Amino acid sequence: MAKINQDQAHFYLLKINSLLGLVPIGVFLAFHLGINSLRTVGPLQYQWSIDLINNMPFLFGIEVVFIYLPLLLHSLMGFYIYFSGKRNVVHYGYPRNWLYTLQRITGVLIFGFLIYHLGTTVVPKLFYGKHQFLAAPFLMDVMNAEFQTWTGRIIYLIGISAATFHFANGLWGFCVSWGIIIGRNAQRNASVVFAMVGLVLTVLGFATVLEFSLDPVPVTPTVGG
Ligand code: HEM
Repeated sequence: MAKINQDQAHFYLLKINSLLGLVPIGVFLAFHLGINSLRTVGPLQYQWSIDLINNMPFLFGIEVVFIYLPLLLHSLMGFYIYFSGKRNVVHYGYPRNWLYTLQRITGVLIFGFLIYHLGTTVVPKLFYGKHQFLAAPFLMDVMNAEFQTWTGRIIYLIGISAATFHFANGLWGFCVSWGIIIGRNAQRNASVVFAMVGLVLTVLGFATVLEFSLDPVPVTPTVGG
C-alpha cells in the first residue's frame, strides 16, 4: 500500500477540515442566524422557533452529533493547522494571503466567543433544567439582559462578524481546495458571490442584536409554566 507523506497528510487534513466547516457547521450557522433574526418579526415568532427546537425528540443527541462534535473536530484541526505554522498548500497572491491570515484570526475569535456564548445560554439552560417550553422564556431573558449592555452588544457584534467572515471566506477556500472553482475569473467571481452571502448573514445577525437592544420584552411559556 502506498504511504502518504507529511505534506500529503496536511493537504488531506485541510480538505477534510474545509468540508467540515461547510457541512454541518456552515449550514448550522446560516440556519442559526436566520432563525434568530425571527426576533425582528416579533418576540412570539422567536419564542415559537425556540419552542420547536427544544421540543425536538433526541435533541441532545442531534446537537452532539451535528453541532458539538463537528465544532470540536474543526477547532482542533484548525488549531493544529494554525500552530503547525505551514502556509496553505495553494499559493495565492498578496490579498489572498491576507484573507488567509484573517481566516486564522477569526477562527480563534470564534472559539473564544463560543465559550462565552454557550456558557451563558445552553449551559445555564441545562443547569437550571429549563427544558421544552421553559427554554424560550429563560433564553429570551438571557438575551434581553445581554443586549442591554454595550459589552454584550460588542461581544456579539464581534462574534457574528468573525463567524460570517470565517464562513464566507471558508466557502471560497472549500471550493478551491475541492476543485469546484478552478479558473482565475471563476475564483474572482466566486469571491464576490461569497462576500454577498457573508454580508447577508452579517445583516441578519446585526438586525437581531439591534432588535433585542431596542425592545427587550420578556415572554411567558406558551404551554404550562
Ligand atoms: C444575534 C446573534 C445570536 C443569537 C441571538 C444567538 C442565540 C442563541 C441561543 C438563544 C442559543 C441557545 C439555543 C437553545 O439552547 O435552544 C444559541 C445556541 C448556540 N449558538 Fe447562538 N446566537 C447568536 C449568534 C451565534 C453565532 C455567531 C454563533 C457561531 C459562531 C452561534 C453558535 C451557537 C451554537 C453552536 C449554539 C448551540 C446550539 C445548540 O445547542 O442547539 N450563535 N444561540
